This record gives sequence, structure tokens and C-alpha cells, in this order.
Amino acid sequence: MKAVVYKGPGKVRVEEVNDPKIVHPGDAIIRLTSSAICGSDLHMYEGRTAVKPGSILGHEPLGVVEKTGDAVVSVKKGDRVAVTFNIACGYCDNCVRGYTNACLTTTAGSLGFVGPYGGAQAEYLRVPFADFNCIKLPGTPGDKWEDDFVLLADIFPTGFHATELAMVMPGMDVAVYGAGPVGLLAAYSAILKGASQVYVVDYIPERLRKAKKIGAMPIDFTKGDPVDQIRTIKAGNPANTGKDAMMSGVMCGIDAIGYQVRDRKNPREENPTQIIDDLVRLVNPTGHLGIIGVFLPEDPGAPTDDGKQGNFMIPWGKIWINGLTIGTGVTPVKKHALNLRDLIITGKAKPSFIVSHRIPIEDAPEAYQKFDERYDGYTKVVIKFE
Ligand SMILES: NC(=O)c1ccc[n+]([C@@H]2O[C@H](COP(=O)([O-])OP(=O)(O)OC[C@H]3O[C@@H](n4cnc5c(N)ncnc54)[C@H](O)[C@@H]3O)[C@@H](O)[C@H]2O)c1
Ligand SMILES: [Zn+2]
Ligand SMILES: [Zn+2]
Repeated sequence: MKAVVYKGPGKVRVEEVNDPKIVHPGDAIIRLTSSAICGSDLHMYEGRTAVKPGSILGHEPLGVVEKTGDAVVSVKKGDRVAVTFNIACGYCDNCVRGYTNACLTTTAGSLGFVGPYGGAQAEYLRVPFADFNCIKLPGTPGDKWEDDFVLLADIFPTGFHATELAMVMPGMDVAVYGAGPVGLLAAYSAILKGASQVYVVDYIPERLRKAKKIGAMPIDFTKGDPVDQIRTIKAGNPANTGKDAMMSGVMCGIDAIGYQVRDRKNPREENPTQIIDDLVRLVNPTGHLGIIGVFLPEDPGAPTDDGKQGNFMIPWGKIWINGLTIGTGVTPVKKHALNLRDLIITGKAKPSFIVSHRIPIEDAPEAYQKFDERYDGYTKVVIKFE
């Protein structure tokens, strides 16, 4: 089969590799119809993780069951499924509590990223614990839901999870930093939850336009300090007249960028704590921070020694005295995937507004390069299989 293989920093190639096989009776083999490229794939692409050259990338699969092991009971050949990027057993203490991001059996395994699991940017994929990790879907390949359902593997649940980490409730206002797929779907989820106002900060025009289209307020950080911009807009809104000055920020702040934050003054450099600093300046006392963007304990490509070990300075005193809560970590996709699936099926959500490019697998190397450059317009790329 054809697959997207990591060859070293800045290099992926489409290669012919062996088809995956059933190795455990609980496995299924999926024939992919769509597979998305993620901002998380870029951490591997840029050589910022321990993933070795030769690995197949990708963790956002949608397809049809081709084969099942003898122990699989809930899916069968021909079923349409998306697969959660967390590979989880479903029966360990953490999975039972809903924390499939911390599965004890697979040691927090993830497709194409953590553990021995193959990547999903390939014609076929082996799914361990298939009964648990497949999300069953209606419809047929290529239908009106194809580009929505592929986002159930990671990005839609992840955007939604960001709003859970930031404890977004109806009526609250929310600032989202980063208008990539995760930030846009965090903003979209906050709007679905009934947030009173959602601000989205970035500097890429196409992405900010998408934020505006879904009803969020785009904030271009090249036009001035985003914290000042948001406070000024808020002060000009008559609904906030008479509110205590201490509450002139927002209740919920989301970092949808992670450790590879571009420094505002010099976007060629990274400034991993800039967003946390901003959120601590912007979020009201007793408010909530959801840090959904990735931070890693080891980062071989970090520009500083502290960064290489995942150590960062953050304004802890201000966080503490303001009584802020902070939510972090990898998304437990399964926890949210079925509810979000049903929002798509009933027409209440259409997350595919983020998809910008649909490509054959042969074009993946070029798409990685352009997405990595955040080339204007490359927001979300989905590989399509015949
Ligand atoms: N927690 C999880 O389980 C989980 C799952 C999926 C993705 N992620 C992570 O979420 C993050 C975002 O993913 P994505 O696919 O949206 O990636 P992305 O790289 O496409 O989006 C990041 C956006 O942040 C913007 N940005 C950079 N510096 C900025 C700054 N100083 N201020 C404002 N905006 C800035 C960029 O222009 C870009 O649009 C990545 O770290 C990804 O790995 C986490
Ligand atoms: Zn992803
Ligand atoms: Zn488990």
C-alpha cells in the first residue's frame, strides 16, 4: 500500500510499504477513504519529537472496515468508521473513567505518534482494540458528511475539549489564541455551547476570515497587543457598561498553539510562554485557562536548554492570587466523539468549514511543506483515497 513516511526533519515521502495485518484477535483493518494532516504531524515533520525516520505519519482516519479479528464483535466488514487517535483499551482504570488519553494498557498510545501503532496517512490501517477505538458512522464514503466525520478522529473533539478544559459555559466570554484547525473548532465549540463572545487571535488572514465567518471576533496580533485589543472591544460593548473593572477581561482563555508559539515581534522566533503570559493578563480572577496546544517534556529541537527539557517560566504568583484554574493535556477523543458525531448527523454542527484542501496521497509532501509554512489558505488538508 501507499503511505506517507517520515524521512527526517522537513522531509516526508510517499512510499510503497507492507499492508497492515491482524496481529491480535481484537484488531480490525480499515480501508481509508479520508485521512487528514494535523498541526500535531508538524511536530514530527520538524523533528521536534522522538518519532524515528521510517515511521508512517497520520492519526486522523475515516474509512470502511475491511477485515476484523475473531474477537471483534461490534464492527464488521463494510461498516463506516472514524478511528480515535488515542489507542485505548477501554477496560483499564483510566479508560473506564473516560480518560482514554491516559490508557494504562497502551501507555497513552496514539496512532502515528506514541507507541508501536502505525500511522493513518496510508491506504490501510490496523486498529487495535477495534471495538473501543472505532466510532461507528452512518452514510457512505464520499457523502455530505465525509469531511465532517474525518474531523471526529481528533480535531473536532480536541476543539471541544479545549472548551471543557477552559470550563466554557453559556454566557461566558472566551479568548482563543491560534486560528489553526484546533483554535477554530474550539471557537466553534464555544459558540455551540452558547458563549456570549468569542475572540480568536492569529495573524494569518485566511484563518481570521474563517473565525469571523463562524461568528467569532477576529483579533490580528500584528495590529497591536491582543490583550489590549480585546479589553478595548469589550469596553466599547454596551452590555459591559457598569461592570467592575476587574472583570474587563474574559472568563475563559484557550491556548490552541502550544510550545511552537511564534513571537509576536519576530514571528521567525519561538516564544513558548507568550500565550500563557497573555492569558494570565487577560483572564478575569477566578477564570479558566485551557491549554490544548501541545507542550512536551522533551523537545530536541528547542532553541533553549530549558525548552529542551520542557521547563518554562510562567507567572505562577498571578495565577495563584487570581485563583485561575488550568486544564491541560491530550484529548480523550472517545469521551466527546459520539455526542459531536450526533451534532453533525442532526445538522447542528458542520466542522468541515475548516477544510481548505483535498489532495491525492501523492501530493502529501507538498502539502506538508505548505501547511508547515502556514502558507496562506492551507488551513486543513485532507488526503482522499480512491
Ligand atoms: N491536546 C491535544 O490532544 C491536541 C490534539 C490535536 C492538536 N493539538 C495541538 O494543538 C495545536 C494547534 O494545532 P493546529 O492543528 O490548529 O495547528 P496550527 O499550527 O495549524 O495552528 C496554530 C496557529 O497558531 C498561530 N499562532 C502562532 N503563534 C501565534 C501567536 N503568537 N499568537 C496568535 N496565534 C499564533 C499560527 O499562525 C497558526 O494559525 C498544536 O500544538 C497541536 O499539536 C493538541
Ligand atoms: Zn491531529
Ligand atoms: Zn485503557
